[in-house]
Amino acid sequence: MRDNVIMLSKKELPDQWYNIAADLQKPLPPPLHPGTKKPLTPEEFSAIFPLPLIEQEASIQRWIKIPEEVLDILSLWRPTPLFRARRLEKYLDTPAKIFFKDESVSPAGSHKPNTAVAQAYYNKISGTKRLATETGAGQWGSALAFATDFFGLQCIVYMVKVSYEQKPYRRSLMHIWNAQVHASPSKETQTGRDVLARDPECPGSLGMAISEAIDDTVHTPGTKYALGSVLNHVMLHQTVVGLETKKQLAQAGETPDVMIGCVGGGSNFAGFVFPFIFDKLNAKRQIRFVAVEPTACPSLTKGMYRYDFGDTAQMTPLIKMNTLGHNFVPPCIHSGGLRYHGMAPLVSALHQEKLIEAVSYRQNPVFEAALLFSRVEGRVPAPETAHAVRAAIDEALRCKKEKKAQTIVFNFSGHGYFDLTAYDKYMAKQLEDYDYPQESIEKALRELPTIG
Ligand SMILES: Cc1ncc(COP(=O)(O)O)c(C=O)c1O
Repeated sequence: MRDNVIMLSKKELPDQWYNIAADLQKPLPPPLHPGTKKPLTPEEFSAIFPLPLIEQEASIQRWIKIPEEVLDILSLWRPTPLFRARRLEKYLDTPAKIFFKDESVSPAGSHKPNTAVAQAYYNKISGTKRLATETGAGQWGSALAFATDFFGLQCIVYMVKVSYEQKPYRRSLMHIWNAQVHASPSKETQTGRDVLARDPECPGSLGMAISEAIDDTVHTPGTKYALGSVLNHVMLHQTVVGLETKKQLAQAGETPDVMIGCVGGGSNFAGFVFPFIFDKLNAKRQIRFVAVEPTACPSLTKGMYRYDFGDTAQMTPLIKMNTLGHNFVPPCIHSGGLRYHGMAPLVSALHQEKLIEAVSYRQNPVFEAALLFSRVEGRVPAPETAHAVRAAIDEALRCKKEKKAQTIVFNFSGHGYFDLTAYDKYMAKQLEDYDYPQESIEKALRELPTIG
């Protein structure tokens, strides 16, 4: 029997989150009010978020205690396993060692519940009755539905229309956990009705669904808004992933050379690598951190680092981030969770500082890697996760060419059991590749707000 899994005991579940804001050389530019364009006050934020999350958003305290009630639920599936992909190494005939952190073992099938549980908890103790949110592929919507159901909160999910149609079983999962789900753009909100009046066939985008969820929040008493990525507090909650990985690699006597994660809004990548960036910042280790995105929505590799809205209807605060423009509607690729025009401010700032790198891939090579991984290792990745798989395989092939025995570690952010239509299409050679649609992005970038 080969030793291919590193487990931690329940006692080793981290009891504090790591806040990278404490270790940044330059503080993040502040979020601005969408109307006045002045730095946003906590009172203004409180229309959509509860106070404890607003405090975490601005916190520069390095370690933040995880409440017992949150740990109690996280321990249903955490600590998650770290696997060594020995079969993949053998198949690729590479001298590299390949490890992956398996976040697909959560009840909703991805890393998203790590923050959903924390957000539901802080809303519950702050008196919120109802949470509104958006979802792309349905991973975040189902994670929040699971978490709100545990805390007895109502959950309303605006699901990007193209995914609503492509992924009916994600919808069923949200219904099992008592959420209400609307295809976005919907007739439920003024924002949705306006979009439908302009374009009745609009496939939707994460930017539009966010506008609908915020519109719902500000017009329904007792409601707050929850975001599954991008914001600082979401990155914070995801650091349990990297903190566990650190202990697991230490247990295996390994130090990583390359760490890889896919990026939509940036949260699984951030949670996985931030605790290791702490070491890099303290000059302890030379590690490459690689963020992987689709060529169809390349916010890090082709976007601009500018202040922009997080949504299409310009309702969110303005945040400084890598963006393709809030009006950019990405092509309908199967990685719904990566179809977002912006990137987490923390991930964007680290990219500016050249502490992390970014690459982009087309969807056919991504699915080629996903199918190979499913056949060699047995686990079927979500299309989003498959971007990290592709990059890990390419890094292992580079090691083979350069005859280097490096250690590659990637985040297996979710499983693909609700994404089988996409696999069917790939196997039937029906998937289209989309490159950066230069004209539409240039148009969206011209519409960026001017600040100062
Ligand atoms: C499985 C999976 N991985 C990755 C992502 C991308 O999100 P983020 O960049 O916030 O981790 C998503 C988003 O829905 C997802 O479902």
